[in-house]
Amino acid sequence: MDLQAVGTDVERVIATEEQLSSRIAELAAQVDKDYEGKDLLLIGVLKGAVMAMADLSRAIQRHIEMDWMAVSSYGSGTKSSGVVRILKDLDCDITGRNVLIVEDIVDTGLTLSWLKANLESRGAKSVEICTIFRKPDAAKVEVNVKYVGFDIPPAFIVGYGLDFNEKYRNLAVVAVLSPHMYS
Ligand code: IMP
Ligand code: MG
Repeated sequence: MDLQAVGTDVERVIATEEQLSSRIAELAAQVDKDYEGKDLLLIGVLKGAVMAMADLSRAIQRHIEMDWMAVSSYGSGTKSSGVVRILKDLDCDITGRNVLIVEDIVDTGLTLSWLKANLESRGAKSVEICTIFRKPDAAKVEVNVKYVGFDIPPAFIVGYGLDFNEKYRNLAVVAVLSPHMYS
């Protein structure tokens, strides 16, 4: 879905399709370098990371495996609840694996710090994080994010997998949701 289709629902573009793909190519090149000669399992966090996973995995120039988890930390609004629930668990055993979590966005960081600890407790050899977007609040939680696409201001954004009440995930660009949409 193009920007025109959402009209005044959004107020400004944070990342264009070109900016997304060139930044993701850079992250993929870094991943290629860092994991050279090592096995690599990408774990996508549903549903927001679907686009990021599709693009990042295709930009990586080596074999990888993919698995998916679904966790919930948000209700239906725009504020983090801090409560994490597993909605869908991994299909595979990650004992001894090098895991790279692929996320859409780190806001409070609560979801990721919980997820990282959870995967480490299953005996993974390494657990690192790749997020396309990171908000300033992420600095408040002790979570080491190895790969960050874009550091953005603390606004609520949609598109490229990111939703507001399950909509806008298919918006091709990433944009700030207009406050009149939720206030
Ligand atoms: P955290 O636990 O506060 O870091 O929240 C992480 C999750 O909240 C992300 O995986 C998103 O699903 C959701 N989220 C946080 N900020 C935004 C946003 O600006 N737009 C859409 N979803 C968001
Ligand atoms: Mg979400």
